[in-house]
Amino acid sequence: MVTEFSIPPLGGSSAGRPDAADIVAEPGTAPEAVTADALVVFLAEGGVGSGAAAAIDAATSGLLGRLAAAGEITGKRCECVPILAPGGLRAGQLVVAGIGKREEFDAGTAYKAAATAARHLAGRPRSRVAFVAEPGWTPRQIEQAVAGAATGMVGQDLYRAEKKRSRFGSTVWLGAAPDAVARGRLLGDGVNLARRLVNMAPDDLYPQSFADEAAVVAGRTGMQIEIWDEDHLARERCRALLAVARGSSRPPRLVLLRYRGPGASGDRPDVALVGKGVTFDSGGLSLKPSESMLTMKCDMAGAAAMLAAAATLAALAAPVHLVAAVGLVENMTGPAAYKLGDVITARSGTTIEIHNTDAEGRVVLADVLDVVRGLAPRRIVDAATLTGACMVALGHDVAGLFTNDQGWCDAIAAAARTVGEPVWQLPMYPDYDDQIKSEVADIKNVGDGRWGGAITAAKFLERFVGGIPWTHVDIAGPAFAEKPRPWTDGGGTGFLVRSLVELLRGQQGSRQRSAPPNGAPGVTVMASQLARPAAVNQRRGGPAKVSSFGRGGLHLGIVRRPPSPRHPGDSRWDLSRGGRVRAFFNPVEGLPVAP
Ligand code: BES
Ligand code: MN
Ligand code: ZN
Repeated sequence: MVTEFSIPPLGGSSAGRPDAADIVAEPGTAPEAVTADALVVFLAEGGVGSGAAAAIDAATSGLLGRLAAAGEITGKRCECVPILAPGGLRAGQLVVAGIGKREEFDAGTAYKAAATAARHLAGRPRSRVAFVAEPGWTPRQIEQAVAGAATGMVGQDLYRAEKKRSRFGSTVWLGAAPDAVARGRLLGDGVNLARRLVNMAPDDLYPQSFADEAAVVAGRTGMQIEIWDEDHLARERCRALLAVARGSSRPPRLVLLRYRGPGASGDRPDVALVGKGVTFDSGGLSLKPSESMLTMKCDMAGAAAMLAAAATLAALAAPVHLVAAVGLVENMTGPAAYKLGDVITARSGTTIEIHNTDAEGRVVLADVLDVVRGLAPRRIVDAATLTGACMVALGHDVAGLFTNDQGWCDAIAAAARTVGEPVWQLPMYPDYDDQIKSEVADIKNVGDGRWGGAITAAKFLERFVGGIPWTHVDIAGPAFAEKPRPWTDGGGTGFLVRSLVELLRGQQGSRQRSAPPNGAPGVTVMASQLARPAAVNQRRGGPAKVSSFGRGGLHLGIVRRPPSPRHPGDSRWDLSRGGRVRAFFNPVEGLPVAP
């Protein structure tokens, strides 16, 4: 029985969500002719050049050239110069966004420059903002710019009555192909999804509520989902994950997602995405000092990145067969907490001696990796805010890569380079294995002392991948920005979502997507995760397939719509009840869009 209709509870509530947040292409509109609150144009160092900036310079009787000559505008990377009420344009203001040296321009710069301009403009409500893509930009560069603009207008406002950033009512991209814009919007939504989950307070985002969020996202994007509760985890002998969870009043969960893209055949997934989902890391009995604990809501950033990447790939209908598995626990000090000296038998049978309960991520991942190994994926990549040592080695902005398969690691590094997410590989010499030997068990959960701590952690994980090509990404530094940057307000960054999508999207971008994904989108939920059983309906008279799922007394009908001229290459979703369409949402973040 449906009791009441409401929008899916994203981020705890739908309060403060915009009425519509469209991002669309207007390839034919000239910059000087566009009506908008603001027009954003990109400028490289060394003058107005020959692109869109030159056209705007001409329309404004040489205004840009004069400002450049006077040194008021330099085009330096992430410079952002607003010019109010410019004559010759129909836009209320012109924002000149610097992209640095012309010959160094790449997709990562496009992301940051667009995010910087959007962040600046989103300081006030704007109903319509136009961005101009440069004529020479590749589809990749356009996508990253669109994604950047989508993330720049979102800050850390989840809990603020008065928001510091407002999403633009609509964003239009001039000079950009509609399919590239549509893909960029989905990508931006993916990054924003991961950021929102990281930014949620740990008392709001705990293992069950993370699993709920994942179920909603899976429902919208047509992924299958399984949620393992503690009984199921016990039946699956996930004793390592359960040990970490014992100190908390919040029971653990393991979420398994599966997406089979068009052309993906056979039972073997092409790739498994594994994420560390410690929704809060107090350190357990090896308690963290207060200052180190403050940001430990970010310790589920690996899980958020994997959920968001999988959802984005599903929304893009990428031709890949993937599974994503995230281990969700809270590391606390309750009376049943796991102890130093405990010896735990992981799901794989390997015994682990606990030397430090704050080295919990690897203990959780031991079981998640073993679950995934059982699904026989061709490759595994995991993302985890695993060690402070990785930040000592590489700083705040760079992720560490660790692998048992150089080709797989190189592919990840190449994708990361393409989208401008910095990563650096660290060695996995066999000598490091000695450091995790235990006197009483097969291995212990820390190395000898703190030296090489990021590597000994990776060495620990390696024991659980069963020889499958695997790369571990330690995102402890870049997952969370303690301070704002020109392109972000700080907090969760969504790091790795763009790299993973780039890695697994296949040849998309050279051609338009064809078939809609997953013939029958739906949700399978195990172990009484739903207040009501999932149901399947057929929308009366409609051509689209409807699946509905419920949670907490909520039933939603979801209609996968074919791409429309206004949203080409995109799948929108109708939230319907009793066959009546109520609202249009986009699939990844569930934001309303105009029908
Ligand atoms: N979640 C932390 C790592 C971390 C630190 C993430 C800073 C983000 C920012 C992890 O669980 C941890 O506590 N690691 C310990 C391991 C040590 C006890 C061997 C660390 O890095 O100190
Ligand atoms: Mn820890
Ligand atoms: Zn941790």
